[in-house]
Amino acid sequence: MPPAPLPPHLAHLPLPPPAAEVVGERLRRVIAAEIEAGGGWISFSRYMALALYAPGLGYYSAGSTKLGAAGDFVTAPELSALFGRSLARQVAQVIGQGIPDVIEVGAGSGALAAELLNALDASGDLPERYLILELSADLRERQRSRIKAAAPHLLPRVEWLDTLPPQVDALLLANELLDAVPASLVRMSEGAIEEVGVALADGNFERAARPATGELLAAAQALNLPHDYETEINLAARALVRSFAATINRGAMLFIDYGFPAAEYYHPQRSRGTLMCHYRHHAHDDPLTLVGLQDITAHVDFTAVADAAIDAGMRMLGYTTQAQFLINCGITDLLAETPAHDARAYAPLAAQAQKLLSPAEMGELFKVIGFGRGVEGPLLGFVRGDRSHTL
Ligand SMILES: C[S@@+](CC[C@H](N)C(=O)[O-])C[C@H]1O[C@@H](n2cnc3c(N)ncnc32)[C@H](O)[C@@H]1O
Repeated sequence: MPPAPLPPHLAHLPLPPPAAEVVGERLRRVIAAEIEAGGGWISFSRYMALALYAPGLGYYSAGSTKLGAAGDFVTAPELSALFGRSLARQVAQVIGQGIPDVIEVGAGSGALAAELLNALDASGDLPERYLILELSADLRERQRSRIKAAAPHLLPRVEWLDTLPPQVDALLLANELLDAVPASLVRMSEGAIEEVGVALADGNFERAARPATGELLAAAQALNLPHDYETEINLAARALVRSFAATINRGAMLFIDYGFPAAEYYHPQRSRGTLMCHYRHHAHDDPLTLVGLQDITAHVDFTAVADAAIDAGMRMLGYTTQAQFLINCGITDLLAETPAHDARAYAPLAAQAQKLLSPAEMGELFKVIGFGRGVEGPLLGFVRGDRSHTL
């Protein structure tokens, strides 16, 4: 395949370093070979799976920085210790009901794990084991180093899993996992429901649509999509939530992510979906460039998440905004532990809290959804402002 320079509409983005381009080019060849082997087409979800997770080459599997100021995007645990410290209060409440283990899925740099473990240690609420399920071998190593540096005495409690354990009593949590799960793209065009995929044209990737079939067609039909409409349906995220629910004998699940209930997600005005790419803190909507060098995400349909967990026999414990959840967990008390007159310490923390809570930043768009089996509600994070009725 010819090298892939940035297309004109992305010419303002910084060029990747040559070493990254080499990895990107190898990944493009892998994807192109799969398209050829598939008769000239692969689904978008398969393309996204390869672009993000192809072993050693995908965005999350290769060695780029990814998270944080030096990477492509910033998540709440990267932004502020206040996030993990607030969440720790919720985790402590569940552990207090005799739930021994925490499972974090998709732990990124390990920032949340390190913060949670230290906060739970300080409050005397440590889990017996902190289990991490992480697809990326590169990130597993970073998580281990991060926890070793921040909480060396707690490292023996941390175990990395290759698969979900059968039937555990645990609190499973995941921050910004579901948005990174490969989504299918569907298009409603002249009354027909099509699945958008990726084909090759002169050695470059291009979108190409085929009639949708099977489970995807049924899911799209159920949404009653308007005409001339393109959106995502995340069957893999639904399956993942079902498998998480099946693993929990007694315990809870908490997912934190950006997204909406189905009625808002599939609103007629959102006619081009929610697919986004993140590259060096620039957001754009072209997933077919910078292959393997940029994050690709879709917002989360929280109604589908709720249906999947409830189908798998769990009980809804709450759904609210990130701002409301963190306030319910006491983020303002945690902020107040730093005296406001100590401006050097207080000002950056207050700015971080503002980012986590402000409706114009992460406060409204990000949501928290919780499910339980054999645990008592209400959960601390949902005591006020529960919006489950909107799902
Ligand atoms: C957007 S990052 C979020 C990282 C971290 N939770 C944070 O908030 O900073 C998504 C993470 O989920 C991981 N991941 C994606 N799909 C996964 C899966 N099926 N099982 C385990 N980890 C997964 C990625 O490798 C990455 O660590």
